[in-house]
Amino acid sequence: MNTIDWKSLPFGYFKTDYNVRCYYKDGKWGEPEVTDSELITMHMAATCLHYGQEAFEGMKAFTGIDGKIRIFRMVENAKRMQSSARGILMAEVPIPVFEESVVKAVKLNLKYVPPYGEGASLYIRPLLIGTGPEVGVKPGKEYMFMVFAGPVGPYFKEGFNPVRMQVVRDYDRAAPLGTGHVKVGGNYAASLRAGERAHEDGFASCIFLDAREKKYIDEAGPANFFGIKGNSYITPDSSSILPSITNMSLCVLAEEMGLRVERRHVPVEELTEFDEVGACGTAAVISPICQIHDRDTGKIYNYCKDGKPGPLSTKLYLKLKGIQEGLEPDTHGWVTVVQ
Ligand code: PLP
Ligand code: COI
Repeated sequence: MNTIDWKSLPFGYFKTDYNVRCYYKDGKWGEPEVTDSELITMHMAATCLHYGQEAFEGMKAFTGIDGKIRIFRMVENAKRMQSSARGILMAEVPIPVFEESVVKAVKLNLKYVPPYGEGASLYIRPLLIGTGPEVGVKPGKEYMFMVFAGPVGPYFKEGFNPVRMQVVRDYDRAAPLGTGHVKVGGNYAASLRAGERAHEDGFASCIFLDAREKKYIDEAGPANFFGIKGNSYITPDSSSILPSITNMSLCVLAEEMGLRVERRHVPVEELTEFDEVGACGTAAVISPICQIHDRDTGKIYNYCKDGKPGPLSTKLYLKLKGIQEGLEPDTHGWVTVVQ
C-alpha cells in the first residue's frame, strides 16, 4: 500500500482490503461473511435495480488521542436502517448482525483508519438491497446487507470553515408523506439535479424547503439544518427530513451547555434572525454556513461576519469531536471502542 496522504483525502470511495456481507433468504439472515471483492453479482430483475429497494447508512470511526478506535453511535444507525427497511418493505437487519458486520469491517481495515489529528476518519457505509427477482411492483423476498469502509476527509472541502448554500423551490427532495424520513436511495436521486445546479452556481449545497407549502426549511442537502438565536438551538421538525444522529447528539450537547433546544417549523423568513446557522451530519459533521442565497427572491443572508464559524457552533463542534476522539468523557455511552 502506498502511504496515504491523510490530510488531503477527499470525501469519496477508497478501496480497502475487505468488506462484509450477509444474505437474507427463506425468511432468515445468514452469518456475516468476509470478502475482498468490490463487486456484487445479482439477478437482473433484483428489486433494488427496478423498484428502488435500497437503504444505506453512514457512520464514522475515529482514532482517538489515546490511539483507541471509536465508532460513534452504531446502534442508532442500526435502528435507523431498520426504520428504512420498514419504510420500503425490506427485511430488517437484526441489530447484532449490523453491529457485528460494522465492527468486522473496521477491524479488517484497521490500517485505513486515519491517525489522530489528521482531520480524517474512517467512513463506514452499510448498505441493504433487495436482490430477489420480481417484475410486478412488490417487495422482494431476498436481501443482501453489506458494510464497506474507507478513509475520508471532510464532505465539504471547506471542512470546519463556513460554506455558502442556496435555497431552492423548484425541486423537492422528498414528499411530506413520502420517504424523506428514511435513508433510501430514491431521496438522493431526487436531490441530484438541485444539488448539481447549486454546485455549478458556486454553492456547497442547496437548502430544500417543505414540499407542501415551501414555507419552512427542511434540509441542507445531505445534512440537517440548525440555527442559533440568542440562547436557542433551533432545528426543523418535519415529516420529510432524515432524523440525523449528529443533530440528535448536538441537541443533547446543546441542552447540557445550557441552550434551549427547539425542534419546530423554521420559516425561511427566520433566516434574518439567526446569529449562526449550520448543516450537521456524519459526513458534514458541523458545516457552518456563512451565506444563504434565496434563488427565487434574490435575498442574501449573511452570517460569520468575521469569516469564522460562530462561537456556539464552534463550541458544539469541539464538544462532539472531543467525544468522538476520546478527549471528552463519553457520558452517554455513544462510542464503541473497537481496539
Ligand atoms: N440528512 C440527510 C439527507 C442525510 O443524508 C444525512 C446523512 O446521513 C443527514 C441528514 C445527517 O444524518 P446523520 O447525522 O445521522 O449522519
Ligand atoms: C452521511 O452523512 O453519512 C451521509 O450519508 C451523507 C451523504 C454522503 C449521503
